[in-house]
Amino acid sequence: MITLEEKFAQSFIGEEAKQLAPRMEKAYRTLVSATGEGSDFLGWFDLPVNCDKEEISRIKAAAERIKRNSDAVIVIGIGGSYLGARAGVDFIKTPYYNQLAKDTPQVYFLGNSFSGGELAAVLELCREKRVAVNVISKSGTTTEPAVAFRAVRDFMQSKYTEEELKERIFVTTDAHRGALLSFARAKGYETFVVPDNVGGRFSVFTAVGLLPLAICGCDIDELIRGTIDERERFLAQGISHPACRYALLRNYFLETGKSCELFVSYDPFLRSYGEWWKQLFGESEGKQNKGVYPTSAVFSTDLHSLGQYVQQGQRILFETVVTEETPEGGYTVKKAAEDLDGLNYLEGASMAQINRKAFTGTSVAHSDGGVPVLEIRFEQKDERSFGELCWFFFAACGVSAYMLGVNPFDQPGVEAYKKNMFALLGKPGYEDLRASIEERIK
Ligand code: PA5
Repeated sequence: MITLEEKFAQSFIGEEAKQLAPRMEKAYRTLVSATGEGSDFLGWFDLPVNCDKEEISRIKAAAERIKRNSDAVIVIGIGGSYLGARAGVDFIKTPYYNQLAKDTPQVYFLGNSFSGGELAAVLELCREKRVAVNVISKSGTTTEPAVAFRAVRDFMQSKYTEEELKERIFVTTDAHRGALLSFARAKGYETFVVPDNVGGRFSVFTAVGLLPLAICGCDIDELIRGTIDERERFLAQGISHPACRYALLRNYFLETGKSCELFVSYDPFLRSYGEWWKQLFGESEGKQNKGVYPTSAVFSTDLHSLGQYVQQGQRILFETVVTEETPEGGYTVKKAAEDLDGLNYLEGASMAQINRKAFTGTSVAHSDGGVPVLEIRFEQKDERSFGELCWFFFAACGVSAYMLGVNPFDQPGVEAYKKNMFALLGKPGYEDLRASIEERIK
């Protein structure tokens, strides 16, 4: 279960926050009745209860085959076709999964940048390994994964025959269209579906996230169970669900000048979860010159870099700290015969207890310094909580964006850079734009 704690934000929440309640209620109703802008992209909402059982069985079967025949899997994708799986592996299996994995393949993510160095390093790491590939792109035309897939295919062809590749290359894309689908059909690769009505950043509980997570040994039934539970609570509790309150407070803070939300975890295992969360809120809300700017940090690490700014910089920030109810204790400090490092006062304290004190001390300091701190709690870093937490943020994002007055489910702005890049790279059809950009940058 996901809970919201407002203790360290209380002094910032004035009576006027109540005036946002009708807007929040309207946004909630718009979301659950699927009557708002972009509601044809609400497939994620009922996915937990409507998921395609046959597709889930095929995902599990493919994962089992890959576990048996591969030492490494290269997962190619970007944005919503990448961040959820990465966040899930780090959250559930730790960022040290590749070093710790015993019975499951290592996982490498490519196609999420144009870095030739990263591509070369991953292929070098995989050179002597038995390799499988999962290429993920809903549109099937995104340039970063397309270029990486061409490079990885060349690499795979140097190791395997075309017949063998059919057992090693798996394609996750649109069910009916796109270059990647045509390619997979021509080559006989197994395909998985990104449903039409699920946008990239809401797709972690489709094959987009489920196949890589299953390959890494995550229990995908438990993941889905978590999403079902959070959805049930959202429907049963209505506007009392904490996702609604969180949506209201985000909008309230924005209206009181707090235009930047810092997603914080006190656990490096959630660093990539913060990346996933930023995409969810950034792409959903940042349009029509509106929206809270989402950013992320890991404390206490970043208290030694960003901490000064948070405490005393521009007062535009609020924090959303995501914490675990039952974190692993870790090392417990023992009494030393000679207290040379001066730490004997910590005798008997576990790392988890010290971390909690760091959270409390920091939250008091930051709220004293003018930064409201919300706390969102999940139970533990497992599949169930991952499902609950992601679905919680999906729902909160929908309500929050409707409160803001934007369509949560489109991303018209991401095309601008792509057009310029295509023009500069000489893609056919972009000749005029190329000439005009080259004129401007002369
Ligand atoms: O959320 C989104 O829609 C985007 O981040 C996409 O997931 C991203 O651009 C990748 O697109 P595609 O899956 O079509 O390659």
